[in-house]
Amino acid sequence: MKKKNVIDIMEMKKNNIKITMLTAYDHVMASILDEAGTDMLLVGDTMGMVVFGHQTTLKVTLEDSIRHTQAVAQGAKSALVIGDLPFGTFQVSPEEAVRNSVKLVQEGNAEAIKLEGGSERVTSIEKILDAGIPVMGHLGLTPQSYHKFGGFKVQARSEESARFILNEAKALEKAGIFALVLEAIPWEVAKKITEAISIPTIGIGAGPYCDGQVLVTYDMLGYFDFKAKFVKRYANIKDQILLAVQQYNKEVREKVFPDLTFSYEMPSSK
Ligand code: KIV
Repeated sequence: MKKKNVIDIMEMKKNNIKITMLTAYDHVMASILDEAGTDMLLVGDTMGMVVFGHQTTLKVTLEDSIRHTQAVAQGAKSALVIGDLPFGTFQVSPEEAVRNSVKLVQEGNAEAIKLEGGSERVTSIEKILDAGIPVMGHLGLTPQSYHKFGGFKVQARSEESARFILNEAKALEKAGIFALVLEAIPWEVAKKITEAISIPTIGIGAGPYCDGQVLVTYDMLGYFDFKAKFVKRYANIKDQILLAVQQYNKEVREKVFPDLTFSYEMPSSK
């Protein structure tokens, strides 16, 4: 299977082919998502919540992102691997944004980077692109602005904020991003943006009219009891893991596992 690149992803919008993206944080999961034909794997800073158990994404470091992107890249034979710039790694200066993007590519083996924010990020985006690194944008509910938003809240629900986000999307497109994540905004607003820009929009809680969709893999596989409105469950992995582990615990305690069929034997005992 041919390795996908950002040109392939941009072509998909032109050819009206929906794009799939899922989050991955480790090699095993990345290999499975890749084998299933997922177009892009995002090593999102949601790892802060999913892998490390934090309440927000704010504590993820560049080192965390690099290490997990390395692991995912090892498993991605065909999917495009996108590393996420964590909170604090690109906001201070465009120079720092470039330096940290280079690290994500050079050390983490990312093939593109994602950063949150709108027109205030244009200079950084242009400089990252100058370094030869493709950039994915992210507008709407940008979780790194958790405290500014007062929590995880649907964005762009007024006429004014809808107009604002549309202009932000146009500014990011002009800056040269190859794709744009739209998170938790009304579907009507996402549709308008998708029609107004030539690069693919990738929605999460942004309705059916985006050019592609992304979900946090652990959400769609049902690892958690909590489920946001926009998450469709494609499996109930938590229930299966619980059953399997309860059975294992029972069998070990009752001396059922392992029996001799799961044991090595001395050559002489044959
Ligand atoms: O960090 C992440 O996983 C994300 C997706 C939810 C889009 O930004």
